[in-house]
Order: sequence, then structure tokens, then C-alpha cells
Amino acid sequence: MLGDNRPGGQMKTRVTQMLGIEHPIVQGGMQWVGRAELTSAVSNAGALGILTALTQPTPEALSAEIARCREMTDKPFAVNLTILPTIKPVPYGEYVDAIVSSGIRIVETAGRNPEPWMPLFKSAGITVIHKCTSIRHALKAQSLGCDMVSVDGFECAGHPGEDDVTNLILLPLAARRLSIPFLASGGFADGRGLAAALAMGADGINMGTRFLVTKEAPIHERVKQKMVEASELDTALIFRTLRNTSRVFRNSVAEQVLAIEAQPGETQFEDIAPMVKGVRGRELFESGDLDHGVWSAGMVIGLIDDIPTCKELVERIVAEAEQIIRERLTNLL
Ligand SMILES: Cc1cc2nc3c(=O)[nH]c(=O)nc-3n(C[C@H](O)[C@H](O)[C@H](O)COP(=O)(O)O)c2cc1C
Repeated sequence: MLGDNRPGGQMKTRVTQMLGIEHPIVQGGMQWVGRAELTSAVSNAGALGILTALTQPTPEALSAEIARCREMTDKPFAVNLTILPTIKPVPYGEYVDAIVSSGIRIVETAGRNPEPWMPLFKSAGITVIHKCTSIRHALKAQSLGCDMVSVDGFECAGHPGEDDVTNLILLPLAARRLSIPFLASGGFADGRGLAAALAMGADGINMGTRFLVTKEAPIHERVKQKMVEASELDTALIFRTLRNTSRVFRNSVAEQVLAIEAQPGETQFEDIAPMVKGVRGRELFESGDLDHGVWSAGMVIGLIDDIPTCKELVERIVAEAEQIIRERLTNLL
């Protein structure tokens, strides 16, 4: 990277090469947020934007959203397919068909082993990035033929798993054990993070929360502003007692869920379901009523203090990482 005379902003890694993108930065799938507005803005900035399949109410709506996103960018973008326990059953097979028949070239899978869908994805020549929170799951994904994994550390927004291992351990382990490239995910927001991830063996970073707090993220300004004001202490781990841990913003609803989970005896999901229903999260993002439900947010909110465009953000991260590599790190030698 340093040995040639390339101008700035052209950091090449296995991730940029495999995904056909300019910068080694990916926007992770985000329920209710991964719509064409954000996805196209991230891709137009030279990173990889990802539409979230289940944000769309039906497989047909997903096909329409993919077409809408194509109108907004001619750069590569992906679709996230999250397979998690849901209150309402989801026709996953039909969503997969919509993805494949739309000609999508990159899929991010998450939540569960993507094995059932791998033959279909592979026969369509799709590049599969599997997001996982442990080395054993990353190795499993590699053995199933996934092209890349996104290693989501304990810091991350959403589902960090139950192992509680942070990226300072997970990433070097991934570098030692995996032969496929991996993205560092969870806790990344700036150039320091990107340089550190590359140093630890990742070929790029995946960010959720940081892209949530951008001009183009299709959510209410109040939610963005709340995250700008928040510190790294303002997240909570809910659903621990159900072994389905989720890191969310610590609002009054998250506090109520924690109080119910702290009561003696087994937590009954029925007791908390009405407060945490997915639809309430969507309504919260639309209305800006910060105590209407829960929303995923990572500890990285402690590093977020503005609401840039995706282009400003991506350029800033890349420039900062390059400066650290060229100056601070090189000067140490
Ligand atoms: C609002 C929000 C919604 C998310 N929804 C999903 C989702 O539906 N599927 C998924 O695989 N990951 C989801 N994630 C996780 C992100 O894709 C990513 O893995 C995570 O945010 C990385 O951690 P970071 O927030 O510290 O960058 C979500 C994250 C956020 C902030």
C-alpha cells in the first residue's frame, strides 16, 4: 500500500477487489434503515451499501426496492438476509428467490447458518458475506463456501451473540484461523478504527451505527441527534435471559425490559414482546418518539458527534486511516 505512488483514497484490499468497490468500507444490513436512500448513498460514496431484505413487507416489495436502488446508483450494492427468531413467520425462500432473480451480485447473511441457501446463491454466482459473532461460526461459514465473513464483536449494535468476546481478540483470531477475507464489524466509526482493523488482519470494516447517523439515513432527525449526544455508556444488552442478546439504545423501554428480565424466575417473552415489537421500532424511527420502542445501537455512539453525508463520512474515514498509516505508523519505524 505504501510502496507505490498511488494518490490518496485508493486503498486496495481483498475486500475492495472482491466486491468491486473503491474503499474498504461496508454498511451492514439495518432493519428499517437499509432502504434505497441510504444504500445508494453509501455505494455512491465508493463503499458498499446494503439493502435489508426484511425491511420490505413482501418479496415483491424487495424486488421493487432493488429496482429503485438501481435507479439511484450504478455502483455495486448488496442485500442483507437476516434469519432470526421472529414473532411472525417469514417466507425466507421467497425472499431468496427475489434476491437471486433481481440479479443481485452480493448477499450478506446473518443470524443463522446460511447453508440452506448456499447452493442457490453459488449457482447464481453471488458473493456471500456471512456475518457472525464467533470464530467457530466464521470457520463454519468458510467451510460452507462463504466468500467472506463479517466478524461482529461484542461492541456491535444488534445481536452480539452470547460469548461476549470483543474485537481485540476476535479479529486477530480470525486473521490466524481464516483463509477467506474478513470485515471487522462492531465499534468502527473513524479512520483510527479502519487502520486498526487493517492492522489486525481485516480487509475492511463493516459499520452499522455510524451509517445510521448520516444525513441520508431514512430515520427521524431526533433519533440521530440523540445518538450524537449519547456516550459509550448509553447502550443496553436486552434479551440476555432469553439467550437472544440484543444491544440497543438505553432508553426507558430498554430499562423496563431489563427490569422485567431481572425479576426472579424465567423471563417470559410474552411479558416484553408488546414493548419491543419490530413495528414499534419502525414507528420510532418514523416519528422520532424516542420511548416508543427499542432500536439497535452500538457502543460506538461514544465516538459519533456529527451527522455527515455518507460521502463526507467515507472520505473522512479513508483519509484519516491513510494519514495514520503513512505518518504515525510509518514514523514509528
Ligand atoms: C438500527 C440497526 C439495525 C440493524 N439491523 C440489522 C439487521 O436487520 N440484520 C443484521 O444482520 N444486522 C443488523 N444490524 C447490525 C449491523 O449490520 C452491524 O453488524 C452492526 O451495526 C455493527 O456494529 P456497529 O453498530 O458498532 O457498527 C443493525 C444495526 C443497527 C444499528
